Amino acid sequence: MMRLMSLIYGANVDLSCHGINLRLILTGNIQTLRSVFVEELENELVASCMAGYDGRRGWIYFLAVKSSQRRKRLASILVRHAEAKLVKPGCPKVELMVRKKNNKVISLYKSIGFDPDPIIVLSKRLIKDEKHDFG
Ligand SMILES: CC(C)(COP(=O)(O)OP(=O)(O)OC[C@H]1O[C@@H](n2cnc3c(N)ncnc32)[C@H](O)[C@@H]1OP(=O)(O)O)[C@@H](O)C(=O)NCCC(=O)NCCS
Repeated sequence: MMRLMSLIYGANVDLSCHGINLRLILTGNIQTLRSVFVEELENELVASCMAGYDGRRGWIYFLAVKSSQRRKRLASILVRHAEAKLVKPGCPKVELMVRKKNNKVISLYKSIGFDPDPIIVLSKRLIKDEKHDFG
């Protein structure tokens, strides 16, 4: 463990962000979290949001609201709920990925305090997908 930590520190990996505890992450002792939050209206599932925390950062996935129930703040409520859950075990930052052209989702996240990050997402497809050239 010490050798691994000194390799990472020695390579100048940027660990300066608040809340990163390399030892906890590497030993797997960090309290990880994976939750799905949903809203129900009269027994019908109308909104979902999934959140995860790997010890380094939190992620939000699968935010979705039934068409007939949109613009009632359900997505905002679920994301805020996920944020509150993530911050409890010390998650310093929450991130998510949105396609550049998905303007309504970008508007939603901006309206609840999210900003674009100066980070480039790199990916590599490991299993071919004939239909999509992204994600
Ligand atoms: C994006 C989505 C989750 C928004 O859910 P929602 O419950 O309607 O969102 P909210 O009511 O919380 O919206 C809050 C704010 O976000 C912005 N916003 C939400 N939907 C918007 C839209 N279609 N166009 C422009 N701005 C929008 C507005 O600023 C809105 O505030 P306002 O209604 O006072 O103007 C929903 O449209 C959806 O399920 N879309 C399809 C799935 C999807 O793309 N998921 C994201 C995957 S990354």
